Amino acid sequence: EKGGYDHFMLKEIYEQPNVIRDTYRGRLHANEGIIQMSGVEDNLEKFLNAERIIIVACGTSWHAGLVAEYIFEEFARIPVEVEYASEFRYRNPIIGTRDVVIAISQSGETADTMAAIKLAKEKGAFVYGVCNVVGSSISRETHAGTHTHAGPEIGVASTKAFTTQITVLTMIALRLAKAKGTLSNTDYHRYLQELEIIPEKVKEALETNDRAKEIASVFKDSHNCLYLGRGYNFPVALEGALKLKEISYIHAEGYPAAEMKHGPIALIDAQMPVVIIAPKQGHYDKIVSNIQEIKSRSGIIIAVVTKGDTQVRELADYIIEIPETSDALSPLITTIPLQLLSYHIAVMRGCNVDQPRNLAKSVTVE
Ligand code: F6R
Repeated sequence: EKGGYDHFMLKEIYEQPNVIRDTYRGRLHANEGIIQMSGVEDNLEKFLNAERIIIVACGTSWHAGLVAEYIFEEFARIPVEVEYASEFRYRNPIIGTRDVVIAISQSGETADTMAAIKLAKEKGAFVYGVCNVVGSSISRETHAGTHTHAGPEIGVASTKAFTTQITVLTMIALRLAKAKGTLSNTDYHRYLQELEIIPEKVKEALETNDRAKEIASVFKDSHNCLYLGRGYNFPVALEGALKLKEISYIHAEGYPAAEMKHGPIALIDAQMPVVIIAPKQGHYDKIVSNIQEIKSRSGIIIAVVTKGDTQVRELADYIIEIPETSDALSPLITTIPLQLLSYHIAVMRGCNVDQPRNLAKSVTVE
């Protein structure tokens, strides 16, 4: 049942090239320049008339929502807010009939997300679901939606659900961008082509497994770990930290790299590994100076870099090389070595990777 892998989590990490393809199959037609999801097509006017999009979710799905915020605003120029479902539901939020609420949930059973959906519906918003489990409560409660086709996710730590959620949300953003004319034709077609070959790049990123294992053996006894990223990779830093803490029980925090100097830099010393997402596309020069700041305080840098990188290589203690992608699609790739790193650290610490203590696969109570 684990297909020869030691754990479901590892199997699910390795399934990502295939399930991302399953998720866009029949929806993304790169050569024709078409993206077609029935839930979006049937409700296109609602999306196009949206004054804003509010994304509600919990945990890893909330991180996918944060990535989507950057993508929607950049591609489709629609204002986006991302909310923890648990906060949204209790704070008497302002929601109107021209708001589109997108609820993201792997299980489709998360109690807080479900309650947020009900509230948004009561206030007259159009509610769209991005769920993995077909027939789940959230799929049924939303007005329309798109399923991710990740297949059953058994490992409690979410991996393939995250990347397939980002795939669906990216396709929605591209579809709206096309309708609104907010991306140039060239960019639109380039992103479609690039999304189509993302599974190949994910596959290549999985080749970092041995490297992740080596680095894991160095840091498995750490007590703390910081994850930093900027722009599209800020949410990936949060997700990397969540993966590490939930399965290895090492305290980890994710931050936007520039926030370091507003407090967390005080934590840096020779005992503090800092995982920093530093691909070539994006705010590379800024990240390089963030790395210099950490190095000058004796911090230990583990950097995720684009293949062939030279500048970060010189500064970092350890590097993990991934294939090049455009900035906007990079979370689908940068997240892979972070999943592997957490996995190996947890295994080396003797943790129950698939069923971490105190956690349940779906949180059906608040
Ligand atoms: C983390 C994790 C949780 C879930 C969260 C939301 O690895 O699995 O943080 O992401 O409980 O669950 P869903 O997506 O089922 O609503």
